[in-house]
Amino acid sequence: MTHFSKYQKEYHASLEHKEAFWLEQASKLDWFVTPEKALSKVSEKKFTWFEDGVLNTSHLALDHHVANGRADQLALVYDSPMTGTKKTYTYKKLHDQVARFAGGLRALGVSKGDTIVIYMPMIPEAVIAMLACARIGAIHSVVFGGFAPHELALRIDDAKPKAIITASCGIEINKIIPYKPYVDKALEEASHNPAYKIILERPEQPEKLDYVQEIGFYHVMSQGKAIDPEPLKATDPLYILYTSGTTGTPKGIVRDNGGHAVAMKYSMDHVYNALPGEVYWAASDVGWVVGHSYIVYAPLIQGCTTILYEGKPIKTPDAGAFWRMIEEYKINTLFTAPTAFRAIRKEDFEAEHLWKYDVSSLKALFLAGERCDPATYEWASEKLGIPVIDHWWQTETGWPIVANMLGLESFPVKPGSATKPVPGFDVRILSHQGEEVASGKEGYIAIKLPLPPGCLPTLWQNDERFVKSYLSMFEGYYATGDGGYKDEDGYVYIMGRVDDVINVSGHRLSTGEMEEIVAGHEHVAECAVIGIDDELKGQVPFGMVVLKNDVVEANVMQIENELIALVREQIGAVACFKRLIAVQRLPKTRSGKILRRTLRQMINGLSYKVPSTIDDPKILEEINESFQLQKIHSI
Ligand code: COA
Ligand code: AMP
Repeated sequence: MTHFSKYQKEYHASLEHKEAFWLEQASKLDWFVTPEKALSKVSEKKFTWFEDGVLNTSHLALDHHVANGRADQLALVYDSPMTGTKKTYTYKKLHDQVARFAGGLRALGVSKGDTIVIYMPMIPEAVIAMLACARIGAIHSVVFGGFAPHELALRIDDAKPKAIITASCGIEINKIIPYKPYVDKALEEASHNPAYKIILERPEQPEKLDYVQEIGFYHVMSQGKAIDPEPLKATDPLYILYTSGTTGTPKGIVRDNGGHAVAMKYSMDHVYNALPGEVYWAASDVGWVVGHSYIVYAPLIQGCTTILYEGKPIKTPDAGAFWRMIEEYKINTLFTAPTAFRAIRKEDFEAEHLWKYDVSSLKALFLAGERCDPATYEWASEKLGIPVIDHWWQTETGWPIVANMLGLESFPVKPGSATKPVPGFDVRILSHQGEEVASGKEGYIAIKLPLPPGCLPTLWQNDERFVKSYLSMFEGYYATGDGGYKDEDGYVYIMGRVDDVINVSGHRLSTGEMEEIVAGHEHVAECAVIGIDDELKGQVPFGMVVLKNDVVEANVMQIENELIALVREQIGAVACFKRLIAVQRLPKTRSGKILRRTLRQMINGLSYKVPSTIDDPKILEEINESFQLQKIHSI
């Protein structure tokens, strides 16, 4: 008789007996009305989960724990080496502040179904604002604080929020980021005008508010009476999170309440093996999906203590910052991006800082957000001596697609692979024609529909774009945008994006958007921006521009500088667009399509085939030479 492992049984059950499997997972949560139906088909391509269930995510994250013995346990620890501040919140205290802030929002007229933009640094009030929106059924859309006003304006116009919640400033190493002026600038650009700006005044940057449209965060809290969580349908949206696609218009990923809560709970138990009462730290930012899922919602739904860290892996004050945190808060699970470990390894290769701290509480390190290079994996494993888990997921899915599931059955690690598909995700490797390819052969990574609970049901008010972006490439599948392969043991290897999305220090950005910005400059005839490998940041953008004929040689450098400044101003410093070259021509097919993929392979030193359709093969060599020369110049 064939012996099936625990993982195999669970994986099989999740795909072949979806109703029973997911209803059982759902039963582990405290619903107002427990669902009796798991999956519903809305149309040929669209599905929803738990449509007859009623719940509230803020209730699961707070009220449930207060009522069940965790009132005095720490829910949230805030540690900010940027400001030298530390604060703790028990479940009871966090519940109280969230319930009162929710009451304050309601007093301002915010109600179920309204949208709220949150543009805040890594401070507790960001978490309070998110949970308060969830409590009244308002749909939050958190915008990463590193985005420039233009990016904020795009999101405001799409989400059309009733209010924006922000802070007077964010704090980066040695500089203050003036959030409130950025919001004002974004509102000048946007066509939509929210009724209120709610502003948390930080001592580092006082603000003058008009107290009519601009109201203080704690004033709103003091005006509200604590309110109970609103019963919501499982399919009601919890949040919108914009993410980069292939164009300049970000995609508004929608997350529902019910499927999301079930996925958060399931992943904490089975992927992260994070037990209630333990301390869980996702060293990311609330503006990214990792922050939504694993700083805010999953640890709190699970009854863990979550950590909010306003600092960096290095320089705040040194490469021992993470180890200090682990010792101080007895952290059990750490989740971050490989780039953070590359930064620590670069500064402190011998891990001398590590020996100064007691990090024995740490059970596992999880890495995601970008490819984990084997050198970083080896270094982290050797120095920490605990499981180091590379796992793969996306803003769209909200939780891991491929992982080594510590809470189910752990497999031997193969560096370079994120291990095996997580139950619920039917991961297939497809050829261009949509046929499954043999193991070991690279192809497009797709997920057979339906996607499991927690994944995006659609894009915000744009079903058409949802279908076009994800469901049209392969009939019956969700196209992930990543390429890779499976080996003969079923391990999945993610080889990188097959579209115009790049990951810079774990920050997802669109080279397509950068091209749109660069092409908008009056002296640019055409351009291409691709991602190139970077030792620290994983990838950085690299631009090639063809300038208009009337540009004289003497002005080229100035224009290059203007283009760099333009991308920084429009997207933000996180784009790290610092390298570009002016070229005579771009390589194209005879039908005029720029050969970005070939450029990417050539410049990153990968093997590449010169397509037979290229109009002039010499151009590739010319560009490669200029790139190599520029590299030498910049060393
Ligand atoms: N608000 C405003 N500006 C921000 C910002 C924020 N939240 N985050 C970064 N920036 C700015 C930085 O100040 C910097 O500006 P500069 O060009 O004027 O110096 C620029 O964006 C690039 O910053 P960063 O990407 O942090 O690069 P770095 O070289 O300063 O630091 C690392 C490198 C690896 C230490 C850092 O990128 C890091 O901690 N990465 C982890 C990222 C992460 O957690 N990603 C989440 C995915 S899970
Ligand atoms: P984001 O939506 O910001 O989470 O970025 C998702 C993208 O990051 C994926 O589509 C991948 O390209 C990349 N990514 C995330 N995790 C990994 C990983 N473990 N290995 C390789 N790439 C990853």
